[in-house]
Amino acid sequence: GERRKVDRHIVLVGMMGAGKTAIGAELARRLHVPFTDSDAEIEIAAAMSIREIFERDGEAFFRARETQVLTRLLAGRPRVISTGGGAWIRAENRDLISHRAMSVWLDCDLDTLWHRVKQRPTRPLLQTEDPRGTLARLLEQRAPIYGLADLTFKGRSSDTVEASATRLATQI
Ligand code: S3P
Repeated sequence: GERRKVDRHIVLVGMMGAGKTAIGAELARRLHVPFTDSDAEIEIAAAMSIREIFERDGEAFFRARETQVLTRLLAGRPRVISTGGGAWIRAENRDLISHRAMSVWLDCDLDTLWHRVKQRPTRPLLQTEDPRGTLARLLEQRAPIYGLADLTFKGRSSDTVEASATRLATQI
């Protein structure tokens, strides 16, 4: 791909199943910058899965770790960062991110999100009687907040990861 200067981090936000990790990794490859998934960083630091962290220490503990990891990553050199679906929802994190990064909401419809998350039923927030309903409610509550991101990138369920990354690269 073409080489151009990336002078700010690019932070991908949005719901579980939006493709933040897959598209983020591909985008970083094209832009020749490092890629980091904040959930993966939290797991490495804690030597536990996200699910175990939620079970053992609770969501509040997880959220504190998430802010720590974001702070550390944002202090480094420009990269693409994919975040967990709740990261952008906290005002504290939005302030941190907006200060040092371009934020991108990977906006995706509920059917596409559900189709993806149901294949990997590990997300702690979806351990409910009606995970699809929970996902729908979260999307409804969070969409206006995701919409505060610098850029809204509308996912198309027909697009491959590669096609999405190509299209996104032209918009940033
Ligand atoms: C969460 C999304 C997850 C993970 C945690 C909480 C959320 O990340 O951070 O389970 O609040 O939406 P993904 O968006 O990568 O699934």
